[in-house]
Amino acid sequence: MEEEQVFKMPLIGDQAPDFTAVTTKGTIKFSDYAKGKWVVMFSHPADFTPVCTTEMSGFAERKAEFDALNTELMGLSIDSIHAHLAWVNNVRERTGVYFDFPIIADLDMKVSKLYGMLQPNESETAAVRAVFFIDPKKKIRLIMYYPLNVGRNMDEILRVLEALQTADANGVAMPLNWRKGDKVIVPPPKTLDEMQQRLDDTSCEKIDFYLCKKEL
Ligand code: BEZ
Repeated sequence: MEEEQVFKMPLIGDQAPDFTAVTTKGTIKFSDYAKGKWVVMFSHPADFTPVCTTEMSGFAERKAEFDALNTELMGLSIDSIHAHLAWVNNVRERTGVYFDFPIIADLDMKVSKLYGMLQPNESETAAVRAVFFIDPKKKIRLIMYYPLNVGRNMDEILRVLEALQTADANGVAMPLNWRKGDKVIVPPPKTLDEMQQRLDDTSCEKIDFYLCKKEL
């Protein structure tokens, strides 16, 4: 009987699994990488493929925005370091866009399996399009998984990164479609006394005690 492989999926709130991997910027031990910074780690199915090329170019073209958010990028696919180098060079020659961040060569699928990027019913040989948002304490804060045939949205990746950081810095939550400059949600009261205080509070935009927004 064929043995079914079990892949553990990391969850929001988990400590990001540590690993050491060969990348286009040399060998990196993840726990030593980007100390004090956020990391956006993302996988793509394969080098020299069209959707992946648009996505990687998107990360590269907007790297300055990630820098401004104290965030390092890290890519991954189940390709060799030689394929990565050739692809980075080819895209730079063809388009002028340079993938100036480490890309893991995960030939033995060690990191992809650790991060649930290998989803066998989608592909047994290629990682899905995953994005992990990892905070400076190396805690996983948000996860996106996309299938092989749909590219991600760079505006949304930057939006949620900024939302996470703004929520942390201000002890608030972010409403539907929040963008920088929009009002934020004040955490709802947890006791009857707090509820009464909130009902009496005129400083925030109030629908009712449980839904109040304020400017930052
Ligand atoms: C792409 O990037 O175009 C792609 C890669 C793997 C499977 C399907 C599409």
